[in-house]
Amino acid sequence: MEPAPSHLDTPLPPVHVAIIMDGNGRWAKARGLPRTAGHKRGAEAVRRTVEAAREMGVSTLTLYAFSSENWKRPAGEVTDLMGLLRLYLRGEINNLHKNGIRLKVIGDRRRLGPDITALIEDAESKTADNTALTLVLALSYGGRQEVVEAARRLALDVAAGLILPDDVDEDRFEAKLFTAGIPDPDLIIRTSGEQRISNFLLWQGAYAELVFIETLWPDFGRTELEDAIRVFHGRDRRYGGAR
Ligand code: IPE
Ligand code: IPE
Ligand code: MG
Repeated sequence: MEPAPSHLDTPLPPVHVAIIMDGNGRWAKARGLPRTAGHKRGAEAVRRTVEAAREMGVSTLTLYAFSSENWKRPAGEVTDLMGLLRLYLRGEINNLHKNGIRLKVIGDRRRLGPDITALIEDAESKTADNTALTLVLALSYGGRQEVVEAARRLALDVAAGLILPDDVDEDRFEAKLFTAGIPDPDLIIRTSGEQRISNFLLWQGAYAELVFIETLWPDFGRTELEDAIRVFHGRDRRYGGAR
């Protein structure tokens, strides 16, 4: 973790924080436990982090929970992860709703299976009007797949005569992404010491500040979120402009 600047009062939190929740397997391995035990503890870290983000006044929290590429993992681990996802959705929806949290899922939800898809749809419609925090869960999500899908959908609009090829621009492209209407992430945190993006929010993260921390995801919570936000506030965002 980079040293936090010392001159901070309490600046506003970043509008959109996104987290690559990594390190569940290593957390479990270090304790001689099966990987699933790490994923279970990871789900508890999700609860803590959502609550902390809401209390800190973050507007959107995106959590990368399962990538398009994670389908390549052993079938048993995928089954366990889907089981935990079911439990999370069944167990948390009322709590999210009670706390004014809007849930939105991005990713290829068809691959998640009909029961999980139904849980997601119920949760999204139940919480649609909530405004305290938007919780975006990236499930079966891949940034490249999302960009290709957006291109395909624009091509369909062109083929249908709705727009001309020359009408394709950043705004129209953005409107076809899973994240349409959600502001770009200001801060992307990755836990577990890995320093890569792993196909997460490739378009949206163009100017996100990246903070990589050593903490393994099951150990993440309010303190780590606050620390990462402090580092974020010490950064100089320039968007390609001059100082
Ligand atoms: C993150 O932890 C959870 C998912 C990617 C589903 P990992 O399972 O990747 O844990 P490590 O990276 O093997 O420690
Ligand atoms: C990224 O973690 C995906 C999620 C956190 C859901 P991975 O553990 O799958 O990424 P790699 O394989 O280390 O790049
Ligand atoms: Mg990993």
